[in-house]
Amino acid sequence: MILLDGNKTSDDIKLEIAQRVEERKAKGKKVPHLAAVIVGNNGASLTYVNAKVKACEKVGFESSLVALPETITENELLQKIAELNNDPKIDGYIVQLPLPKHIDEHKVTLAVSPAKDVDGFHPENLGRMVLNLPCFLPATPAGILQLLDRYNIETSGKSCVVVGRSHIVGSPMSILMARNSKVGNCTVTLTHSKTKNLKELCQQADIIIAALGKPEFLTGDMVKQGAVVVDVGITRVDDPTKKSGFKLLGDVKFDEVAPKCSYITPVPGGVGPMTIASLMLNTLQAVEMRE
Ligand code: GUN
Repeated sequence: MILLDGNKTSDDIKLEIAQRVEERKAKGKKVPHLAAVIVGNNGASLTYVNAKVKACEKVGFESSLVALPETITENELLQKIAELNNDPKIDGYIVQLPLPKHIDEHKVTLAVSPAKDVDGFHPENLGRMVLNLPCFLPATPAGILQLLDRYNIETSGKSCVVVGRSHIVGSPMSILMARNSKVGNCTVTLTHSKTKNLKELCQQADIIIAALGKPEFLTGDMVKQGAVVVDVGITRVDDPTKKSGFKLLGDVKFDEVAPKCSYITPVPGGVGPMTIASLMLNTLQAVEMRE
């Protein structure tokens, strides 16, 4: 069993980006600038957004954190988005999800300029992804592709089961794994809460991508010997023995599943850091596209 080390791989990518930023600076080109919008005080979201801002520092990008109160109206948020769309200093930005219930996420996603949509959530980018045209790929699926690629994992002709059909991960992941691309060419089954024979489907899979958000859902009996398992889940579960008061659990019961795998991602330190590395790559792509 080989651990797919997201921390190390994302550090490698960030180093490559930092070099490209230095080259840009030497040529007098613009330093990439990422903005992150966060609404409210969700602890996990604040952690993720802070990690994104910190990654910007590490690669030499400029960054802006736009922290807005939970009580902001939808119109006020849309106004802020219009400002970011029109601000020439900002190359790309993200609006951290989830948003408070009184704000329509779809309206917000549609308001983001596709040229600055480094999360790849806008329908224009998603449509271009389906057509295999240049676009911003959603950061988490793109990070998983990078991880599989950099560990030289063969995907062509393999069976891949994606568990979970979220707009952010499961649905785009299923499309990317089926694409005719270096990492891709899988026979993909997209499964969800209404899937009847999930256990049997997983047992036959060469590659399983668990992205349903249920801690330790995928157990040892659901995985065949030699499978590649990617764990996208990261749920905070109360743990009074920890200083923070919680521990992080993936969607995979690691102790049972890992011994059967050829490759597996840990949680934390697997997919999470890869999402951030992809966001940095997308931001670099954004500034290059604008030139
Ligand atoms: N919430 C959970 N994952 C993500 C992500 O990749 N981007 C944004 N904007 N919000 C998220």
